[in-house]
Amino acid sequence: LNHNVERERGHILEVLFNGLRRLEYRGYDSSGVAIDADRSSRNGTAREEGGGAPPPYAVAPPLVFRREGKIESLVGSVYAEVDAMHMSLDEQFLVHAGIAHTRWATHGVPSTRNSHPQSSGPWDEFLVVHNGIITNYEVLKETLIRHGFTFESETDTEVIPKLAKFLFDKANDGEGHVTFSQVVTEVIRQLEGAFALIFKSPHYPNELIGCKRGSTLILGVKELSAEDSVTTSKSKELFFSSDVCAIVEHTKNYLAIEDNEVVHIMDGNVQILKFDYSKEKPASVQRALSVLEMEVEQIKKGNYDHFMQKEIHEQPHSLTTTMRGRLKNNGVVLGGLKAHLKTIRHSRRIIFIGCGTSYNAALAARPLIEELSGIPVTMEIASDLLDRQGPIYRDATAVFVSQSGETADTLLALEYALKCGALCVGITNTVGSTLARKTHCGVHINAGCEIGVASTKAYTSQIIVMTMMALAIGADRTSSQTRSEAIAKNLSGLPGKVSEVLKLDNEMKDLAVSLIDTQSLLIFGRGYNYATAMEGALKVKEVALMHSEGLLAGEMKHGPLALVDETLPVIVIATRDDCFSKQQSVIQQLQARKGRLIIMCSEGDTSNVCPNESCRFIEVPQVEDCLQPVINIIPLQLLAYHLTVLRGHDVDQPRNLAKSVTTQ
Ligand code: G6P
Repeated sequence: LNHNVERERGHILEVLFNGLRRLEYRGYDSSGVAIDADRSSRNGTAREEGGGAPPPYAVAPPLVFRREGKIESLVGSVYAEVDAMHMSLDEQFLVHAGIAHTRWATHGVPSTRNSHPQSSGPWDEFLVVHNGIITNYEVLKETLIRHGFTFESETDTEVIPKLAKFLFDKANDGEGHVTFSQVVTEVIRQLEGAFALIFKSPHYPNELIGCKRGSTLILGVKELSAEDSVTTSKSKELFFSSDVCAIVEHTKNYLAIEDNEVVHIMDGNVQILKFDYSKEKPASVQRALSVLEMEVEQIKKGNYDHFMQKEIHEQPHSLTTTMRGRLKNNGVVLGGLKAHLKTIRHSRRIIFIGCGTSYNAALAARPLIEELSGIPVTMEIASDLLDRQGPIYRDATAVFVSQSGETADTLLALEYALKCGALCVGITNTVGSTLARKTHCGVHINAGCEIGVASTKAYTSQIIVMTMMALAIGADRTSSQTRSEAIAKNLSGLPGKVSEVLKLDNEMKDLAVSLIDTQSLLIFGRGYNYATAMEGALKVKEVALMHSEGLLAGEMKHGPLALVDETLPVIVIATRDDCFSKQQSVIQQLQARKGRLIIMCSEGDTSNVCPNESCRFIEVPQVEDCLQPVINIIPLQLLAYHLTVLRGHDVDQPRNLAKSVTTQ
């Protein structure tokens, strides 16, 4: 933020803390903040005391706070320290250029010393916050140690501010004053790996630099109103963020910064330099702003206790927005795929690639894509594809599915598929994400910002996008016309059916009460609902921290049946479709082994599914078979949610997990 006016207590801090709160779902093991402040009336910090004589500053060194744990522990400690300074607000926060970061540990354990901002050393001459990974940090570290630098953290990030300090000193050695962007350009010339960085330095007061390669960085631009402009000479507030969620409450005008652009903010002005390895000097570029299609309500909990709960219940709405403008005359129109449909139809193979929930969504859509396209579809977990370096040929279509569009494994698999020469299609919820930018074509799922770490509404929207994709690919085949029309018709009624199934909320809470102390839960599905079993079990594992396995019912007798006894709860998905009679026989076999059965079936079908009344039933509305996974997952999402609350675990930020895993 670059703004010269005090509006409320610690305004700059409030803006930074709120931004961190919006990003907390991305990672939450430690956090930190650096702001400018006049510390003339304050004793020096430990960092200053150990640092010898201060360098010739234009302003006082920044205030830097770092803390292990969740963001609120940082907020508490910062205000406690600020209050202890006993200064007026005008004295405390003279210049409004601050940076902040919430960390998810990759290099080095979660700890204060490993949290960001990382520093160049005594007097904090350069401070950096970083997302991503620096692959050549060991070489850089050795060189810097040889030049007298001492390292305090185990992070890869620490080499960046130290390299900045080293290059700054070198450039200023008799050659006049080097600019901030010259320093940063030289730093990133030497970095390898993926990064989004923001630099701050007391040598350049009221300036910030943001730059990126691989990882995402957004610049938000807020034009100040005439009223604001009375109290400040500036006409803009500027925000850097790794995610639009942190800026949407300030502005909808944004720029997705591109790789190797160095964005320099000075006194409310912006200069963008494009860095090119082959050229000595970066060139100045002009970029147009985009407008964010997102409402601030999306990032607030509203009347719900948790984001996961809110996101489960907003699925009738999120599915409506996913389909908006795309269903036309009993068919579909997907603007982002249109020009490439012919190539996709001529593919020898369609490969779905993703991780976690996104992989499961593709698994749910696979049977329909195969049916309507007649093209073999194979499934790849991104990390496994990379481990095997599985062959991909030029005549394949590789479809990458990712809510965030930033999952490192998925992006590395994308790089690999691009090198192999396949057509690469992206399916993501995040406009401006790396996946959206690097694929040849694709579809946004438009589910709205998803904050709960356990993906819910993105899952159902992903299935619907892939269903629409199947319809678009198969649109030239007359043999499947009747089927396609029936699906398209059912799609528009789906949000209403989702509202109906959400009425099972209390029933699922009761079921959760009955399962609260169990150690394990098995979920059997097949056909369209194999994915439902996998995804339901993943939800229970992720948030309720309870062991759960999603299993292919056809495999039951080849192993899992050995686990079944009267204590182990087993959910069998047996809604009506072509696999129904096979599921009936699975239920009989489980009953013969005295299994503790919970059966998900179509409404009014209980006596056909299982004549034995000892079973517990989850009755759901019946829809077209290929859309049934969207309905069937919802009771399981509700079950996982209630189990988590009842077991006393953190719903939105489950232990050890992050929403976007941006490192390998
Ligand atoms: C992480 C999250 C999962 C998510 C997966 C893929 O593991 O904890 O909930 O499904 O990443 O994320 P993506 O953003 O690529 O869909």
